[in-house]
Amino acid sequence: MILPIVAYGDPVLRKKAVEITSDYPNLKELIANMQETMYNASGVGLAAPQIGKAIRLFVIDASPFAEDEELSASDRETLKDFKKVFINARILEEEGTEWSFNEGCLSIPDVREDVYRKSKVHIQYQDEDFNTHTEVLEGLAARVFQHEYDHIEGVLFTDKLSTLKKRLLKRKLENISKGKIRAEYRMRFPNLKSKR
Ligand code: NI
Repeated sequence: MILPIVAYGDPVLRKKAVEITSDYPNLKELIANMQETMYNASGVGLAAPQIGKAIRLFVIDASPFAEDEELSASDRETLKDFKKVFINARILEEEGTEWSFNEGCLSIPDVREDVYRKSKVHIQYQDEDFNTHTEVLEGLAARVFQHEYDHIEGVLFTDKLSTLKKRLLKRKLENISKGKIRAEYRMRFPNLKSKR
């Protein structure tokens, strides 16, 4: 089932999400619905707060990047199989030089900006069967993880922009929260006043 994606301005996107256990109700179904919602919106990641649940869960499928000829061969090789479910993810360490990448977010349609992040992350998480994994991600895989991880911490990529950029985007972000935006997928707007 495709779920509506929560738009910028909704308080759920600002909550620090809570950990879950394997007895979380209908978890398999929720994960399947989140993946379907992500694919329908042509996203490479979707975090639970974006469908209105402040829990530490996100899904990633960065395989579309494998076709992107502007990326390095090593990024493309890593990303072609980068399809995972992350439960209760933690960043153990971030390292490497900061590099910029043009990011977007399904909760903030039509906004793309260069964001600086460190190049390497050491992570721990549980998969959909609650097996624990410890891994190191680099390059674009690290980037996608960091973006989704931020969501379960209540952080959005627009928070990481310069004061000037934020000022320039203010009106646009307000309009998104009011539903004054055209998205190619179903959304839920926190400040929608009129019925459409
Ligand atoms: Ni996002």
